[in-house]
Amino acid sequence: MAVDVSALNRKFGIAGVAEVVAANGGLPAVRVRGKNGSGEIYLHGGHVTSWTPAGGRDALWCSKKSMYEKDKPIRGGVPLCFPWFGPKADDASAPPHGIARLMAWELESIREQGGDVTVVVALRSDASTKKWWPHDFVLRHRVTYGRELLMQMELTNSGNAPLTVQEAQHTYFAVGDARQIVIRGLAGVTYRSKVENVTAAKQEGDIRITAETDRVYLDTQSAVIIEDPSYKRRIAIHKENSKTTVVWNPWIAKAKAMPDFGDDEWPEMVCVETCNVGDFAVQLKAGETHIMGTRLKVESL
Ligand code: BG6
Repeated sequence: MAVDVSALNRKFGIAGVAEVVAANGGLPAVRVRGKNGSGEIYLHGGHVTSWTPAGGRDALWCSKKSMYEKDKPIRGGVPLCFPWFGPKADDASAPPHGIARLMAWELESIREQGGDVTVVVALRSDASTKKWWPHDFVLRHRVTYGRELLMQMELTNSGNAPLTVQEAQHTYFAVGDARQIVIRGLAGVTYRSKVENVTAAKQEGDIRITAETDRVYLDTQSAVIIEDPSYKRRIAIHKENSKTTVVWNPWIAKAKAMPDFGDDEWPEMVCVETCNVGDFAVQLKAGETHIMGTRLKVESL
């Protein structure tokens, strides 16, 4: 059913602070201009595409080649991977990284408090989710735009049986040059890597991007810092109830192979993903709720 953007704006908009608009591809999105920070979230995927703390530059990156279509994920910002990560283990025809980023979410509320603006969107199981995954659930994304960005994925098992999910806030950070950044906070942590085809390597020192990088850091709840000398800033990534962290940059060949990613865009981004994937999938009994979150803070270098 087509969403009436004007009706949503009349119901939820806050004059001068938050507006519901038809954004790229005509997809409904909330644009926020709070005193402490501004940003944008699409109802498609419950997908945050922008956050700029007051006086700063956008911390998030979106591809100029991103598609903005109903059945395609947005390339950049914060795709929400749910309820599986990567390919679905028992169904090669299922969409990678789950279904949440392909679905139209519902706008539940917009609130302003002390210059911060919180937007809550929700995805509820229905026939279109059950086509891929049989469980009943309510998934909310609660996003507060301020001097910090707080994003919480709140999952309730609304069915009668236990369920197991993988989940990720697959955040694309904007960086001046990925080859110059240093990613701190994961030294000594064990990772598996699709690129080097290893299942248990140990991170020696801080991370530098020098080639295609696609690693899942295991059993880590540590905060991660992206130090970016080109943009003269440091982005601190704090995690809540997340035991894995993915670090991804496609580098040259993979960027070229992706239709929704510009050939020369890979130096502009790095993904550092708050997640619970693989053996760290989350189990929820009937009626239980689980929150996984990311809090971002930017400081000058
Ligand atoms: C990362 C995965 O999280 O997402 C990579 O670890 C994958 O393997 C990347 O290539 C992008 O995935 P997608 O489905 O958005 O192209």
